Amino acid sequence: MEFQRQLEEARELAEARLRTFFSGGGLEEAMRYSLLAGGKRIRPILTMKFCEAAGGTLEEALDFGCGVEMLHTYSLIHDDLPCMDNDDLRRGMPTSHKKFGECVAILAGDALQAAAFRTVLSAEGTWRHGGKTALAAKILAEAAGETGMCGGQYWDSLGGGRSRTEESLTEINGKKTGALLRAACMMGVCASMGRREVDGSCMDAARDYAANLGLAFQIRDDILDAVSTAEELGKPVGSDAANRKATYVTLLGVEACEARVLDYTARAKQALDSGRWAGDTAFLMELADSLAVRRS
Ligand code: IPE
Ligand code: IPE
Ligand code: MG
Ligand code: MG
Ligand code: MG
Repeated sequence: MEFQRQLEEARELAEARLRTFFSGGGLEEAMRYSLLAGGKRIRPILTMKFCEAAGGTLEEALDFGCGVEMLHTYSLIHDDLPCMDNDDLRRGMPTSHKKFGECVAILAGDALQAAAFRTVLSAEGTWRHGGKTALAAKILAEAAGETGMCGGQYWDSLGGGRSRTEESLTEINGKKTGALLRAACMMGVCASMGRREVDGSCMDAARDYAANLGLAFQIRDDILDAVSTAEELGKPVGSDAANRKATYVTLLGVEACEARVLDYTARAKQALDSGRWAGDTAFLMELADSLAVRRS
Protein backbone atom coordinates (compact mmCIF):
# COMPACT_ATOMS: atom_id res chain seq x y z
CA MET A 1 0.00 0.00 0.00
CA GLU A 2 1.40 3.36 -1.05
CA PHE A 3 0.57 5.07 2.25
CA GLN A 4 2.36 2.39 4.31
CA ARG A 5 5.37 2.51 2.02
CA GLN A 6 5.69 6.29 2.38
CA LEU A 7 5.16 6.07 6.14
CA GLU A 8 7.96 3.51 6.50
CA GLU A 9 10.25 5.46 4.18
CA ALA A 10 9.89 8.67 6.23
CA ARG A 11 10.12 6.81 9.55
CA GLU A 12 13.28 4.98 8.47
CA LEU A 13 14.87 8.25 7.38
CA ALA A 14 14.14 9.77 10.79
CA GLU A 15 15.35 6.67 12.67
CA ALA A 16 18.62 6.54 10.74
CA ARG A 17 19.34 10.24 11.32
CA LEU A 18 18.39 10.08 15.02
CA ARG A 19 20.86 7.21 15.48
CA THR A 20 23.71 9.54 14.50
CA PHE A 21 23.29 11.76 17.59
CA PHE A 22 24.67 11.15 21.12
CA SER A 23 27.16 8.33 20.80
CA GLY A 24 28.99 9.00 24.08
CA GLY A 25 28.55 7.59 27.59
CA GLY A 26 27.20 9.23 30.77
CA LEU A 27 24.44 11.74 30.12
CA GLU A 28 24.51 10.97 26.38
CA GLU A 29 23.66 7.35 27.15
CA ALA A 30 20.51 8.47 28.95
CA MET A 31 19.58 10.83 26.08
CA ARG A 32 20.10 8.05 23.53
CA TYR A 33 18.15 5.53 25.63
CA SER A 34 14.93 7.57 25.46
CA LEU A 35 15.43 9.00 21.97
CA LEU A 36 16.05 5.63 20.32
CA ALA A 37 13.48 3.68 22.33
CA GLY A 38 11.22 3.49 19.28
CA GLY A 39 8.39 5.98 19.30
CA LYS A 40 6.05 6.35 16.33
CA ARG A 41 8.09 9.33 15.00
CA ILE A 42 4.89 11.13 13.99
CA ARG A 43 6.42 14.58 14.44
CA PRO A 44 9.47 14.22 12.14
CA ILE A 45 7.26 12.38 9.64
CA LEU A 46 4.90 15.38 9.64
CA THR A 47 7.79 17.82 9.25
CA MET A 48 9.21 15.95 6.26
CA LYS A 49 5.85 15.34 4.60
CA PHE A 50 4.80 19.00 4.96
CA CYS A 51 8.08 20.02 3.35
CA GLU A 52 7.31 17.66 0.49
CA ALA A 53 3.73 18.92 0.16
CA ALA A 54 5.13 22.46 -0.10
CA GLY A 55 7.34 21.40 -3.01
CA GLY A 56 10.50 20.31 -1.15
CA THR A 57 12.14 16.99 -0.35
CA LEU A 58 12.02 14.82 2.79
CA GLU A 59 15.76 15.29 3.35
CA GLU A 60 15.53 19.08 3.39
CA ALA A 61 13.34 18.88 6.50
CA LEU A 62 15.05 15.96 8.21
CA ASP A 63 17.04 17.89 10.82
CA PHE A 64 14.11 20.16 11.64
CA GLY A 65 12.09 16.98 12.23
CA CYS A 66 14.82 15.45 14.39
CA GLY A 67 14.88 18.65 16.46
CA VAL A 68 11.13 18.38 17.11
CA GLU A 69 11.51 14.69 18.03
CA MET A 70 14.26 15.53 20.55
CA LEU A 71 12.07 18.18 22.12
CA HIS A 72 9.12 15.76 22.23
CA THR A 73 11.29 13.05 23.83
CA TYR A 74 12.41 15.50 26.51
CA SER A 75 8.75 16.31 27.22
CA LEU A 76 7.99 12.60 27.64
CA ILE A 77 10.93 12.03 30.05
CA HIS A 78 9.74 14.90 32.25
CA ASP A 79 6.06 13.95 31.88
CA ASP A 80 6.83 10.51 33.36
CA LEU A 81 8.67 11.83 36.45
CA PRO A 82 7.22 11.08 39.91
CA CYS A 83 6.34 14.80 40.33
CA MET A 84 4.29 14.69 37.12
CA ASP A 85 2.50 11.50 35.92
CA ASN A 86 4.72 9.09 37.87
CA ASP A 87 4.85 6.41 35.17
CA ASP A 88 7.28 3.48 34.97
CA LEU A 89 7.01 2.43 31.32
CA ARG A 90 7.62 4.43 28.14
CA ARG A 91 8.01 3.23 24.57
CA GLY A 92 8.02 -0.33 25.91
CA MET A 93 10.94 0.23 28.27
CA PRO A 94 11.43 1.43 31.86
CA THR A 95 11.12 5.23 32.01
CA SER A 96 14.28 7.30 32.20
CA HIS A 97 14.04 7.95 35.94
CA LYS A 98 13.46 4.23 36.61
CA LYS A 99 16.54 3.32 34.61
CA PHE A 100 18.91 6.18 35.52
CA GLY A 101 17.36 7.90 38.56
CA GLU A 102 15.50 11.20 38.75
CA CYS A 103 18.52 13.47 38.62
CA VAL A 104 19.83 11.99 35.36
CA ALA A 105 16.33 11.89 33.86
CA ILE A 106 15.85 15.60 34.49
CA LEU A 107 19.25 16.37 33.00
CA ALA A 108 18.68 14.10 29.98
CA GLY A 109 15.45 16.00 29.30
CA ASP A 110 17.15 19.38 29.72
CA ALA A 111 20.00 18.37 27.42
CA LEU A 112 17.61 17.00 24.77
CA GLN A 113 15.84 20.35 24.75
CA ALA A 114 19.12 22.17 24.11
CA ALA A 115 20.10 19.58 21.50
CA ALA A 116 16.75 20.12 19.76
CA PHE A 117 17.56 23.79 19.12
CA ARG A 118 21.17 23.03 18.22
CA THR A 119 19.96 20.48 15.66
CA VAL A 120 17.47 22.89 14.09
CA LEU A 121 19.97 25.76 13.96
CA SER A 122 22.74 23.51 12.58
CA ALA A 123 20.52 22.44 9.69
CA GLU A 124 21.54 25.64 7.89
CA GLY A 125 24.97 24.17 7.22
CA THR A 126 23.53 20.95 5.84
CA TRP A 127 20.60 22.12 3.77
CA ARG A 128 21.06 25.90 3.38
CA HIS A 129 17.56 27.05 4.20
CA GLY A 130 18.20 30.63 3.18
CA GLY A 131 17.83 32.06 6.67
CA LYS A 132 14.68 30.08 7.40
CA THR A 133 16.35 28.12 10.21
CA ALA A 134 15.91 31.07 12.56
CA LEU A 135 12.19 31.10 11.77
CA ALA A 136 12.01 27.34 12.38
CA ALA A 137 13.79 27.72 15.74
CA LYS A 138 11.39 30.50 16.72
CA ILE A 139 8.37 28.35 15.83
CA LEU A 140 9.81 25.53 17.97
CA ALA A 141 10.58 27.86 20.89
CA GLU A 142 7.04 29.23 20.91
CA ALA A 143 5.63 25.70 20.82
CA ALA A 144 7.86 24.48 23.64
CA GLY A 145 7.49 27.20 26.23
CA GLU A 146 4.91 28.80 28.48
CA THR A 147 2.49 29.50 25.62
CA GLY A 148 2.83 25.92 24.32
CA MET A 149 3.80 22.53 25.70
CA CYS A 150 5.12 23.66 29.11
CA GLY A 151 2.12 25.94 29.61
CA GLY A 152 -0.24 23.05 28.83
CA GLN A 153 1.66 20.69 31.12
CA TYR A 154 1.42 23.30 33.88
CA TRP A 155 -2.38 23.43 33.72
CA ASP A 156 -2.54 19.65 33.30
CA SER A 157 -0.38 19.15 36.41
CA LEU A 158 -2.82 21.17 38.54
CA GLY A 159 -5.62 18.83 37.48
CA GLY A 160 -5.54 15.99 40.03
CA GLY A 161 -9.10 15.54 41.27
CA ARG A 162 -10.50 18.72 39.76
CA SER A 163 -13.29 18.68 37.21
CA ARG A 164 -12.86 20.49 33.91
CA THR A 165 -15.09 21.79 31.17
CA GLU A 166 -14.66 20.68 27.57
CA GLU A 167 -13.43 24.19 26.75
CA SER A 168 -10.65 24.09 29.34
CA LEU A 169 -9.57 20.57 28.31
CA THR A 170 -9.45 21.71 24.70
CA GLU A 171 -7.24 24.63 25.68
CA ILE A 172 -4.89 22.41 27.73
CA ASN A 173 -4.65 19.75 25.00
CA GLY A 174 -4.05 22.37 22.35
CA LYS A 175 -1.02 23.49 24.32
CA LYS A 176 0.44 20.33 25.83
CA THR A 177 0.06 18.21 22.67
CA GLY A 178 -1.16 20.44 19.85
CA ALA A 179 1.64 23.01 20.08
CA LEU A 180 4.49 20.64 19.21
CA LEU A 181 2.51 18.97 16.42
CA ARG A 182 1.79 22.46 15.07
CA ALA A 183 5.49 23.29 15.18
CA ALA A 184 6.35 20.02 13.42
CA CYS A 185 4.02 20.82 10.52
CA MET A 186 4.90 24.51 10.20
CA MET A 187 8.64 23.79 10.36
CA GLY A 188 8.18 21.44 7.42
CA VAL A 189 6.69 24.27 5.34
CA CYS A 190 9.50 26.48 6.62
CA ALA A 191 12.14 24.00 5.41
CA SER A 192 10.67 24.16 1.92
CA MET A 193 10.42 27.99 1.94
CA GLY A 194 14.19 28.37 2.17
CA ARG A 195 14.69 27.18 -1.39
CA ARG A 196 11.56 28.06 -3.33
CA GLU A 197 8.47 30.23 -3.33
CA VAL A 198 5.78 28.69 -1.14
CA ASP A 199 2.25 30.12 -1.28
CA GLY A 200 1.33 31.94 1.93
CA SER A 201 -1.81 29.80 2.32
CA CYS A 202 0.36 26.73 3.07
CA MET A 203 1.65 27.94 6.45
CA ASP A 204 -1.90 28.74 7.59
CA ALA A 205 -3.18 25.39 6.33
CA ALA A 206 -0.35 23.54 8.12
CA ARG A 207 -1.12 25.37 11.36
CA ASP A 208 -4.86 24.66 11.21
CA TYR A 209 -4.40 21.01 10.14
CA ALA A 210 -2.05 20.48 13.07
CA ALA A 211 -4.25 22.27 15.60
CA ASN A 212 -7.13 19.91 14.82
CA LEU A 213 -4.89 16.86 14.47
CA GLY A 214 -3.40 17.66 17.90
CA LEU A 215 -6.82 17.75 19.56
CA ALA A 216 -7.78 14.45 17.91
CA PHE A 217 -4.40 12.96 18.88
CA GLN A 218 -4.74 13.75 22.59
CA ILE A 219 -8.35 12.54 22.80
CA ARG A 220 -7.25 9.28 21.14
CA ASP A 221 -4.39 9.10 23.68
CA ASP A 222 -6.90 9.51 26.52
CA ILE A 223 -9.14 6.79 25.03
CA LEU A 224 -6.19 4.39 24.75
CA ASP A 225 -5.20 5.13 28.36
CA ALA A 226 -8.68 3.92 29.35
CA VAL A 227 -9.19 0.93 27.04
CA SER A 228 -5.84 -0.39 25.76
CA THR A 229 -3.15 -2.59 27.33
CA ALA A 230 0.39 -1.72 28.40
CA GLU A 231 1.73 -4.34 25.97
CA GLU A 232 0.06 -2.69 23.01
CA LEU A 233 0.74 0.91 24.12
CA GLY A 234 4.27 0.52 25.45
CA LYS A 235 3.25 2.75 28.38
CA PRO A 236 1.02 2.16 31.40
CA VAL A 237 -2.75 2.20 30.99
CA GLY A 238 -4.94 3.74 33.67
CA SER A 239 -2.36 6.47 34.34
CA ASP A 240 -4.94 9.24 34.02
CA ALA A 241 -7.33 7.50 36.43
CA ALA A 242 -4.49 6.82 38.92
CA ASN A 243 -3.64 10.54 38.83
CA ARG A 244 -7.36 11.44 39.09
CA LYS A 245 -7.03 13.44 35.88
CA ALA A 246 -10.07 14.91 34.24
CA THR A 247 -9.83 14.01 30.54
CA TYR A 248 -12.22 13.96 27.61
CA VAL A 249 -12.94 10.34 28.55
CA THR A 250 -13.99 11.13 32.12
CA LEU A 251 -16.03 14.07 30.82
CA LEU A 252 -17.80 12.48 27.83
CA GLY A 253 -17.19 8.72 27.85
CA VAL A 254 -15.35 6.66 25.23
CA GLU A 255 -18.08 6.64 22.58
CA ALA A 256 -18.51 10.41 22.45
CA CYS A 257 -14.73 10.77 22.45
CA GLU A 258 -14.46 8.58 19.37
CA ALA A 259 -16.93 10.88 17.63
CA ARG A 260 -14.87 13.94 18.66
CA VAL A 261 -11.70 12.32 17.25
CA LEU A 262 -13.42 11.79 13.90
CA ASP A 263 -14.79 15.32 13.95
CA TYR A 264 -11.40 16.96 14.63
CA THR A 265 -9.81 14.69 12.00
CA ALA A 266 -12.33 15.84 9.40
CA ARG A 267 -11.57 19.45 10.31
CA ALA A 268 -7.83 18.82 9.99
CA LYS A 269 -8.29 17.45 6.47
CA GLN A 270 -10.54 20.35 5.53
CA ALA A 271 -7.90 22.82 6.76
CA LEU A 272 -5.23 21.06 4.71
CA ASP A 273 -7.37 21.45 1.62
CA SER A 274 -7.38 25.23 2.03
CA GLY A 275 -3.66 25.46 1.15
CA ARG A 276 -2.37 25.96 -2.40
CA TRP A 277 0.24 23.19 -2.31
CA ALA A 278 2.91 22.63 -4.94
CA GLY A 279 3.13 18.95 -3.98
CA ASP A 280 0.79 16.13 -3.05
CA THR A 281 -1.23 16.14 0.20
CA ALA A 282 -2.71 12.62 -0.14
CA PHE A 283 -0.31 11.16 2.42
CA LEU A 284 -1.14 13.83 5.02
CA MET A 285 -4.86 13.21 4.48
CA GLU A 286 -4.41 9.49 5.04
CA LEU A 287 -2.11 10.05 8.01
CA ALA A 288 -4.87 12.00 9.77
CA ASP A 289 -7.32 9.14 9.16
CA SER A 290 -4.87 6.51 10.37
CA LEU A 291 -4.05 8.43 13.58
CA ALA A 292 -7.77 8.68 14.36
CA VAL A 293 -7.94 4.90 14.74
CA ARG A 294 -4.39 4.24 15.97
CA ARG A 295 -3.95 1.53 18.59
CA SER A 296 -0.69 2.75 20.08
C1 IPE B 1 2.67 10.74 23.46
O1 IPE B 1 3.04 11.08 22.16
C2 IPE B 1 2.37 11.95 24.25
C3 IPE B 1 1.27 12.74 23.72
C4 IPE B 1 1.44 13.92 23.24
C5 IPE B 1 -0.08 12.20 23.72
P1 IPE B 1 3.19 9.95 21.06
O2 IPE B 1 1.96 9.09 21.06
O3 IPE B 1 3.55 10.59 19.77
O4 IPE B 1 4.42 9.09 21.63
P2 IPE B 1 5.58 8.35 20.87
O5 IPE B 1 6.50 9.40 20.35
O6 IPE B 1 4.98 7.53 19.76
O7 IPE B 1 6.25 7.51 21.94
C1 IPE C 1 1.38 14.49 27.86
O1 IPE C 1 0.12 13.91 27.80
C2 IPE C 1 1.74 15.22 26.68
C3 IPE C 1 3.13 15.76 26.82
C4 IPE C 1 3.37 17.00 26.63
C5 IPE C 1 4.25 14.88 27.14
P1 IPE C 1 0.03 12.52 28.54
O2 IPE C 1 0.59 12.59 29.91
O3 IPE C 1 -1.36 11.99 28.40
O4 IPE C 1 1.01 11.64 27.62
P2 IPE C 1 1.32 10.11 27.89
O5 IPE C 1 0.00 9.38 27.88
O6 IPE C 1 2.03 10.03 29.20
O7 IPE C 1 2.18 9.71 26.71
MG1 MG D 1 0.93 14.00 31.39
MG1 MG E 1 1.81 11.05 30.89
MG1 MG F 1 -1.86 9.97 28.06
